[in-house]
Amino acid sequence: MIHVRLSPTLNFQFGAFTVLVLLICSCQTHVIGPTRPIAATVGEDVILQSFLDPVMDAFGMTVEWTRPAMNPSFVYVWRDGVELESKKHPLYEGRTSVFTEELKRGNISLKLSRVRISDEGRYRCFIPALDKDHVVQLVVGAASSPVVQKTKDSSGLVLQCESTGWYPEPEMFWLDGEGNLLSAGPTETVRGPDDLYTVSSRVTVEKRHSNSFTCRVQQNSTNQIRETQIHVPDDFFEVQSSSSSTTFILSVSLAVCILVFLILGFLVWKFKTKKSHRDETDEREKSQEGEVLMAESKLNKEQPSREEAENRVQILDEEQQEKIREKQNSSSFSQNSTRKPAVVFRVDPRGKYIQLRNRSTEDQQLGGWNLKIQVNNEEPIKHTFEDSFNLKAEQVFTVGCCGYDKTYPCAQLVLKDLKSWSSRDNLQVSLISHPGEIQYNLDRIY
Ligand SMILES: *[C@@H]1O[C@H](CO)[C@@H](O)[C@H](O)[C@H]1NC(C)=O
Ligand SMILES: *[C@@H]1O[C@H](CO)[C@@H](O)[C@H](O)[C@H]1NC(C)=O
Repeated sequence: MIHVRLSPTLNFQFGAFTVLVLLICSCQTHVIGPTRPIAATVGEDVILQSFLDPVMDAFGMTVEWTRPAMNPSFVYVWRDGVELESKKHPLYEGRTSVFTEELKRGNISLKLSRVRISDEGRYRCFIPALDKDHVVQLVVGAASSPVVQKTKDSSGLVLQCESTGWYPEPEMFWLDGEGNLLSAGPTETVRGPDDLYTVSSRVTVEKRHSNSFTCRVQQNSTNQIRETQIHVPDDFFEVQSSSSSTTFILSVSLAVCILVFLILGFLVWKFKTKKSHRDETDEREKSQEGEVLMAESKLNKEQPSREEAENRVQILDEEQQEKIREKQNSSSFSQNSTRKPAVVFRVDPRGKYIQLRNRSTEDQQLGGWNLKIQVNNEEPIKHTFEDSFNLKAEQVFTVGCCGYDKTYPCAQLVLKDLKSWSSRDNLQVSLISHPGEIQYNLDRIY
């Protein structure tokens, strides 16, 4: 510091001159900077731009950077050519600075290092001598690429996507190989102690025209998009489907085998007891010659009843065979009927109806099947189709909801319990086969 001793009058004159200069300047000089919010990424450094216009040397001035919403509100104070650290908010210790060389050129920008989420907000740059300020809005964002894993469960091939370290909260989408949105389960969001969000979502997929799937995480306000693609090999699907159908066939065959063995065992046991009865009788005949007549009459009496019994066994046998045949027939029927129906669904964006479409060239017999519609995590709405229900090839079946009215396509079925939904809601439509209670989630078309 340079101390100049001046005579009292001169000192007064100098002071008046300074005030005069500052007054003139303050009328013309402005603190300016960007008016749009500045975006910063967590962990990186950011410069909050601010400068004097027209250019004035600010090195000797007091420059205050504050956050009006905080207490203490000082983020950085420059006074008498040095930083005044004592008033600074502890959150900013060691993280704020100005560009000393630039101050002389009127550049009073603030450098904020290692940005944190808590740094988001309004920053005021104030020059007390000019009584001028400028406010800069800082927006903090964080993003990271999602990780996709594939697993199998009873309903098929499940893809799980997770992405950590987001701010603000992002949205998560699943896309198929052609960029169509897939209907997935609800996105789970967890906020960590570092204030960053972790989002995750699962989707059950089927083999499609292409077997690549994309998990996209998107944050509109910070304009961040990260995505990860996964390629599912063909055999992954095939092993999946063939193993499940093989298991089914095996279990049915096993059940039939056990039944046949039980019946055979029963028949063999019956014959054996009969035979031992007869053998015993024969022996008695030989040893008790004196009672031949009696035995003969007894045999004569037994003869027809034995024949009758044998006939009965024969009939029983045939009946059992018939039953087995029936069982086999019915099992092959249910095998056919529990294949996933070639049905897709479309959702009315106004949230009034759902359309099921048979996209195959074969009729879909859906008699006895249950239709399940679930909006987000709410209680699913179920409907059982009549036994004769047949969705013909290429035909559309419209299911209306509560708020459904005549201005929409004619609905064949109106479910009063089904609440209207918005385009943001996640809808899952499934068909549940009656035998075996297998649930098939239908694919959504847009
Ligand atoms: C102020 O200085 C910083 C650091 O050198 C620089 O990045 C910024 O562009 C400067 N601003 C102006 C308006 O010159
Ligand atoms: C974000 O933008 C996408 C399209 O770019 C849109 O589909 C989505 O609804 C937007 N999300 C929000 C929360 O505005």
